[in-house]
Amino acid sequence: MWKKWFSRKRNEENNKSFESLDRGRIPKHIAIIMDGNGRWAQKRSLPRAFGHRAGAEALRSIVQTASEVGVQVLTAYAFSTENWKRPTDEVSLLMSLLSDYLDNEIDELDDNDVKIRFIGNTDELAPILQHKIEKAQTRTAQNVGLVLNLAVNYGGRAEITRAVKIVAEMVAQGQLRSSQIDETIINQHLYTNDLPDPDLLIRPSGDFRISNFLLWQLAYTEFYFTHLYWPDFKPEHLLEAINEYQNRDRRFGGLKNIKPHNAK
Ligand code: FPP
Repeated sequence: MWKKWFSRKRNEENNKSFESLDRGRIPKHIAIIMDGNGRWAQKRSLPRAFGHRAGAEALRSIVQTASEVGVQVLTAYAFSTENWKRPTDEVSLLMSLLSDYLDNEIDELDDNDVKIRFIGNTDELAPILQHKIEKAQTRTAQNVGLVLNLAVNYGGRAEITRAVKIVAEMVAQGQLRSSQIDETIINQHLYTNDLPDPDLLIRPSGDFRISNFLLWQLAYTEFYFTHLYWPDFKPEHLLEAINEYQNRDRRFGGLKNIKPHNAK
């Protein structure tokens, strides 16, 4: 089981960060932009493909650690609606890494009670990959551990546009009045409708942008940036990010310890 895996890998330093986490304030939902694979490879004079492979490996250990510390949802940005602009070889490689990930990890993920989900327009993926995605989702649907949400062919603007279209159609069909449209209705038609919003967004690689990721859901998320490239992002870095999150002061637009003006 992972517990053993993590204990074996723990060194004194990350054991300290592990023990010092406040177990009552673990972020429920962590979102990650897995950036910097290409630069990681370039730094080593390797083809970009090596960086993406190392990136998939990094995800493996982060999923294990997130699950062990009690994170409920981990959303990882694996392929954006804009990533189709990359050369054919790179797109094919990313798709086959995803397919390999499902083939190679599914048993261990399932054994560890992980529920795999996909967000994004998976209808546009190759039928064989769609089939694997379907199988992985169905196989793990009843699991009650970490929800691993993989964003593939995902874009925040496309997701919001899709939700607006569904809601507009409901109005056109007379199932809803336009005056009834509110944030709850929009939220109900996002891919993440049954999940809490991310508490923490991690973006490695030194870029400071959200790249069309979870635009609606990140409204009050805490951001954590690091210069490490994604393949170098190890369990101890996740613990560091959670540690920093636990020292943030989240006010959601209000003031701390002050009775809200609109309180009943
Ligand atoms: C961004 O780095 C990363 C991606 C576009 C793909 C992320 C994919 C993986 C980590 C591996 C496959 C995923 C799974 C779930 C197995 P970049 O290529 O933009 O890096 P760069 O900015 O340094 O060029």
